[in-house]
Amino acid sequence: MTAKLIDGKEFAQRVRDGVAADVEALKTKHGIAPGLAVVIVGEDPASQVYVRNKVRQTGEVGMNSFHFEMGADVDQATLIGKVEELNADPAVNGILVQLPLPKHIDEAAVIEAIDPAKDVDGFHVINSGLLATGGNGLVPCTPLGCKLMLEDTLGDTSGKKAIVVGRSNIVGKPMAQLLLDMNCTITIAHSRTKDLAAEVASADIVVAAVGRAEMVQGAWIKPGATVIDVGINRVPAPEKGEGKTRLVGDVEFETAKERAGAITPVPGGVGPMTIACLLKNTVTATCNQHGISL
Ligand code: GUN
Repeated sequence: MTAKLIDGKEFAQRVRDGVAADVEALKTKHGIAPGLAVVIVGEDPASQVYVRNKVRQTGEVGMNSFHFEMGADVDQATLIGKVEELNADPAVNGILVQLPLPKHIDEAAVIEAIDPAKDVDGFHVINSGLLATGGNGLVPCTPLGCKLMLEDTLGDTSGKKAIVVGRSNIVGKPMAQLLLDMNCTITIAHSRTKDLAAEVASADIVVAAVGRAEMVQGAWIKPGATVIDVGINRVPAPEKGEGKTRLVGDVEFETAKERAGAITPVPGGVGPMTIACLLKNTVTATCNQHGISL
């Protein structure tokens, strides 16, 4: 059996279309134009690409986009001062400080300086605490995107066995919380897990977010399982020519797709959903700040 491919590009477009309709309703019915502020520090090329895409897509759904660049040598107090200025600005409904930050800056201190109501990344401890306790906070964008794709693919997930491979604060832990809210029975696997193959083989849902190229082997996948691959790893591709590279996920795709019921490709799976969910979170934050339900 060859798995159904879960098309993240098409899904992200559907999410953005919904966001654009919500933005239009906020403008015409409530006179509110949602605004997203993105702060980037330094010149990390990958961050520059992410931020350029975020700024472009923010404009495409009709939101105001505010973009701030700071030098790699900016001090922490100045960066936090910028965050506080954005916290106080009523035209800014969402704030994102692009990570990673330079080593001399304490990332946690910067994240905690963001008003939790404007924390569209969902990284603030208030928002992770609300997620852990079933509250109504802002949810990290990548796990939110995975949840939307799982719901669209599977419908009811009650009682399914789910494994999350990886335990980062940004993906693994919030993903496990969301799967729990979806009534799944959860395993969180990590570098000290004893028999990863057996753990994966018992799961109806596999979310791989470990950051290691093709670490989850296709032969481990339970026949018919749904596989969500969050990894984006660049590996050498000598078959394309000397010095060439290609992108692969955390799952060995070619063999996994012969066993899975549905699977996300890399690229074109989870990746496009992250920015779409950032825009969705900005609408959610705007509505919450104004006490509006659309
Ligand atoms: N760097 C890479 N991905 C992200 C993200 O989703 N949010 C932030 N703030 N920084 C990132």
